[in-house]
Amino acid sequence: MERVRLSLILISILFNATTLSGVELLVHDYYREKCPLAEDIVRHNVEVAVLKDPRLAASLLRLHFHDCFVMGCDASVLLDSVEGMTSEKLAGPNLNSLRGFEVIDKIKYLLEEECPVTVSCADILAMAARDAVELRGGPRWEVLLGRKDSLESSFSGANLFIPAPNSSLEILIDNFKQQGLDVEDLVVLSGSHTIGRARCLSFRQRIYEAKEEYHYGYDRYKRYTSFRRILRSICPVEGRDSKFAPLDFQTPKRFDNHYFINILQGKGLLGSDNVLISQDLDGKIREQAWAYASNQKLFFASFAKSIIKMGSISVLTGNEGEIRRNCRFVNA
Ligand code: HEM
Ligand SMILES: *[C@@H]1O[C@H](CO)[C@@H](O)[C@H](O)[C@H]1NC(C)=O
Repeated sequence: MERVRLSLILISILFNATTLSGVELLVHDYYREKCPLAEDIVRHNVEVAVLKDPRLAASLLRLHFHDCFVMGCDASVLLDSVEGMTSEKLAGPNLNSLRGFEVIDKIKYLLEEECPVTVSCADILAMAARDAVELRGGPRWEVLLGRKDSLESSFSGANLFIPAPNSSLEILIDNFKQQGLDVEDLVVLSGSHTIGRARCLSFRQRIYEAKEEYHYGYDRYKRYTSFRRILRSICPVEGRDSKFAPLDFQTPKRFDNHYFINILQGKGLLGSDNVLISQDLDGKIREQAWAYASNQKLFFASFAKSIIKMGSISVLTGNEGEIRRNCRFVNA
């Protein structure tokens, strides 16, 4: 009797220690029996979408990120507004910016035909992000699955928890820490900005702010000047808010390690890319960026590790959530 009790206590201690980490709650082949074609259906449809519009790879990756940073990876970002609940899609960081929702809708529709009420929208986002990265030449990882979908969205959470492009390094580090992610995760996941585009609105402040804040060393400054000239021609002091520039000017379509070469040269597009280097006082981040800039394999391996970690933030499993039939609405 005593022994049973002791082991129950032990189990509950262990369990409490692991409930914090979503990694423990998710598994690789969650749908192998429940819906064997799930991963193939996602993969095929992401492929078709990205072939038509290569930028969708970036957009799908970003959707997963914006989902996970607001109440965890629970597809809250996909919910449309209903009476009494404002969609996260309307929050500052997302409005006129997030894209790829139709791709998720199509995949969900096909999955409902194949195996009704089985594959969560949150898992679709995680699988789509994984496939999107690989399709642009990035690493492939074994995606962890078994998430449930939320019953609500958080407009205020989206405004609060999704980092702004003009944040200081300190704010970015804090922001990631709140999600259980460390500085190394911040740096390697920022490497996502090797694909996709940003609006003038998102990088204007960076290209018109005092130059001192945005470079270290004379050499970098000279290179940055011509880069800035190009950016200023795309994005004037006022107007043209939604003109685009690629986040990685050198190889905008490839998921590669060029982002780290860029930021080491002061050529990160967003303020948040640039401060990783310019405000890194002890040189640790610069070291990490150098390591990735000179070794793409290392970047890929670290990226895979960190995005699995990101994909496990506060996941709903068991009965706290549901499998939505339509990713835009909770089940009736
Ligand atoms: C470190 C803090 C981060 C900040 C401040 C930030 C901010 C931004 C901003 C402002 C844009 C451009 C949006 C627009 O102008 O419409 C953007 C684009 C993008 N972000 Fe981030 N981001 C961060 C981290 C991440 C992470 C962790 C990921 C993925 C894991 C990510 C993936 C992307 C992608 C792929 C795009 C391009 C999307 C597209 O072309 O549709 N970002 N980000
Ligand atoms: C960042 O940009 C927002 C929106 O343009 C602005 O309200 C805020 O003051 C800026 N923050 C910093 C630190 O510059």
